[in-house]
Amino acid sequence: MKAIAVTPSRREVALIETEAPRASGPTDVTLRILDVGICGTDREIAAFQYGTPPAGCDHLVIGHESLGEVVAVGPAVSRVKPGDLVVPMVRRPCGHADCPACQAGRQDFCYTGDFSERGIKSRHGFMTELVVDDERWMHVVSPALRDVAVLVEPLTIAEKALIQVEEVQQRLPWVCEVRPDDPRHTCHRAVVLGAGPVGLLGAMALVAAGFDTTVYSREPAPNPKAYLAEAIGARYRSSKETSLEQLAADVGNIDLVYEATGASQAAFELMTVLGTNGVFVFTGVPGRKAPIELDTDLIMKNLVLKNQVVFGTVNAGADAFQAAIRDLGVFHQRWPAALRGVITGRHPVESYRDLLVGKPQGIKHVLRFAS
Ligand code: BGC
Repeated sequence: MKAIAVTPSRREVALIETEAPRASGPTDVTLRILDVGICGTDREIAAFQYGTPPAGCDHLVIGHESLGEVVAVGPAVSRVKPGDLVVPMVRRPCGHADCPACQAGRQDFCYTGDFSERGIKSRHGFMTELVVDDERWMHVVSPALRDVAVLVEPLTIAEKALIQVEEVQQRLPWVCEVRPDDPRHTCHRAVVLGAGPVGLLGAMALVAAGFDTTVYSREPAPNPKAYLAEAIGARYRSSKETSLEQLAADVGNIDLVYEATGASQAAFELMTVLGTNGVFVFTGVPGRKAPIELDTDLIMKNLVLKNQVVFGTVNAGADAFQAAIRDLGVFHQRWPAALRGVITGRHPVESYRDLLVGKPQGIKHVLRFAS
């Protein structure tokens, strides 16, 4: 069967022929892969800056944002059945008895760093025709979401962040009016830094959760990303036209920043206008560049005098996968065209090279392994 693999020792990215995996355990599920999304992490792996092949193997089959169809199940499988559409989770536990996170099924908080990730770290991924994995990593999605379900995994980043933001904002129970008819209502104001797939999906999740949301990105409007942001009821501001001071004046107290660029300078500069009792969430992984100058006195003073919280978040647990599936359904109902617009193109497997190593264009590109 076909697979897209990166061989770091030979600096090679190739479409290879590989043996189909065989189910062996009673709870194994065999998936026929339909769609696989391409993200910045895949591009970094294809540039040999990230990613680790499985032990004893010179190559890594990449791909971690996926949608598959169940084609076979082991005798003890109860959560999925043939014909189901499923999105598999990415990270697997480290297996150490002294890692309470992995022991509790929360490998996204793994302490040891010995976790593995399909398509990224020490395990082959999903850019291939068939995949076998345990049923416990599978999340079923409705057939109504067939065309967009490949966005579940990148959306889990925002969902995990939002679950944590909610925990932090619970310290302010008297700020927003409680509406029994609208339990997700909030009066908080959010700024999303960046208008790539993580940023735009994050903006959708924030709007759906009731946040007054502004997307702050480089490119001046009009452009397709600004159009998409406005189509979901968010504001769009270009950093080329709107200074940080203007942004803060436009938004009011910035209660939340959801960083989705990986650009550390822009992120830390934005931190200087984070509001009182604000939360700043980092999701991007910056490449190593030269150190920059930063007004750390101002940032530290604000952190203390404004009760600010800053945290980073990676990967996602089962709760975030469930939230992503729920919200994708909400987006599909509320903004079908905008949601479809996040997927710039679906391509045959053979177009992998340009998409992985060529100049990035558009928002999200998807490789179609089967239809
Ligand atoms: C993936 C996560 C993964 C992270 C770090 C991201 O692109 O979506 O699942 O944990 O990269 O490897």
